[in-house]
Amino acid sequence: MWGGRFSEKPSDLMQAINVSIGFDRRLAMQDLAGSRAHAAMLAKVGVISTKDEAAIQKGLSKIEAEIRKGAFPYRDEFEDIHLNIEARLKELIGPAAGRLHTARSRNDQVALDFRLWVREACDRSIGQIEALQRALLAKAEPNADTLMPGFTHLQPAQPVTFGHHLMAYVEMFGRDASRFADARTRMNESPLGAAALAGSPFPIDRQMTAKALGFDGPTHNSLDSVAARDFALEALSAATICSVHLSRLAEEIVLWVTPQFSFITLSDAFTTGSSIMPQKKNPDAAELVRAKIGRVMGALTGLTLVMKGLPMTYSKDMQEDKEQVFAGFDALELSLAAMTGMVADLTPNAARMEAAAGSGYSTATDLADWLVRETGLPFREAHHVTGAAVKRAEKLGVGLADLPLADLQKLNANITKSVYGVLTPKASAASRKSYGGTAPAQVRKQIKRWKEKLA
Ligand code: ARG
Repeated sequence: MWGGRFSEKPSDLMQAINVSIGFDRRLAMQDLAGSRAHAAMLAKVGVISTKDEAAIQKGLSKIEAEIRKGAFPYRDEFEDIHLNIEARLKELIGPAAGRLHTARSRNDQVALDFRLWVREACDRSIGQIEALQRALLAKAEPNADTLMPGFTHLQPAQPVTFGHHLMAYVEMFGRDASRFADARTRMNESPLGAAALAGSPFPIDRQMTAKALGFDGPTHNSLDSVAARDFALEALSAATICSVHLSRLAEEIVLWVTPQFSFITLSDAFTTGSSIMPQKKNPDAAELVRAKIGRVMGALTGLTLVMKGLPMTYSKDMQEDKEQVFAGFDALELSLAAMTGMVADLTPNAARMEAAAGSGYSTATDLADWLVRETGLPFREAHHVTGAAVKRAEKLGVGLADLPLADLQKLNANITKSVYGVLTPKASAASRKSYGGTAPAQVRKQIKRWKEKLA
C-alpha cells in the first residue's frame, strides 16, 4: 500500500512491532461506515464517478458480509484494519478500489473510526448504567421501609433504610451516565476530511460526511483532528469514576454476605464454592467487580502516558490508544453487567438488618435532638448529656431504648418517658423527613422521581 519508494521488505521485527490488525480489527464496522460516507461524498462532489462509487459501495457491502460471517481474511501483511479492508476491496472490485482513498489519509481515517467506536462505547455504557439503575430501583422500592444501620467510618451511625442506601448508588450511577453523555457531546465532531494533517485540495464536503455519520458537524482544525485523543481520555475518565462506584457497591456486597453482617444473601448463581472448605459460598463476582477498576484506570493511565508530550500531529505512538480503550471498556461493560445481575439476585435479610440498625447506640442523635426540641437545651449540651447516657447504657449492657428513665433523669431532670418514642430505629428513620432524607416517604419520592426519569 505504501511500497512505492521502498525496495526491501520490512524486517520481521519491524513487522511485529508495527502490525495492529490483531486488535484494530475491532474497528472494522466503523471503518466501513466511514468509507461509505466518504465514497458517497466523493461521488457527490464529482471527485469520483458514480459508477466507481457504486462499485465501491457494493464491494464494501460484500466485505461487511464477510466480516459478519467470520469469513474476512485478516492479514498481517496489510498491517492494520484500514489497509486490510482496502486490499480486500481491490481484490473484490479491482482498480476502482484505489479511488476510495482520494482526499483521505489513514490519519483522519483512524481518528474517525476510533471516535465512532468510543462514541458507541459511551452509548453502550449509558444503556448499561440505566439497566443497573433500574435493577437498583426494583430492589429499593420494596425496601423503602427496610431498616438498616447507616454507617460512617464503617461504624453504626444512624438508622437508615435499605431502599435509601440503594438509592445513593442510583444517584452516583446517574452522574456517571451523564458524564458519558457529556463526553459524547464533546466528541461528536467528525475529523474525516482533515486528511493527513493539513486538509485536502479536493472540493470535499465535510458537512456531508459528518452528517452521514451522525456527527453534529466537522471538526474545525485539521491538525487537531488527527492529533487529538482527548475524547478517549475523557471517556476512560468517566469509565474510571463509574468503576469507583461499582467497586464501592461491590465491596458492600462482599461485606454484607459475610456471616458477621448477613445483611443479604446471593443465590448460587452469583457465588462460588471452595475446593477445600465445603461450607463456603464466596462472592467472587462482587470481588472481581471490585478489582476490575485496575484495568479501567490502568487504561486511562496507560493512554494518558501514551499521549503525554506528543508533538503535533499524528505519531505512531497513537496506535497504542486502541488496546487501552478496548480493554478499559471491556472491563467496564462486564462489571456493569455482573453488578446488574447481582443486584437483581440479592435478597435482603430484613430481620438481621433491622436488628443491626438498633445496635451501636445508633439513635443517640435522636436523644440529643429530643433534648434540644423538648427541653430547649443547646445542641452542644444535649450532645454531652447523650454521651453520658451512652456511657451509662454501655455500663449496664443495654441499648439506649432500654435505659431506665431514672438513669436518664439523673443526667437531665427534664427528660420524660416520651423520650422513648424517638429511640427506636424505626422512629429515628421515620423522623428524617428533610428533603433527600431517609424517611420512607422521602425515599419513595426519590424512587418515583428516578422511575419517571428512566421511563
Ligand atoms: N494503524 C494506525 C493507527 O492505529 C493507523 C494510522 C496510521 N497512519 C500512519 N501515518 N502510519 O494509528
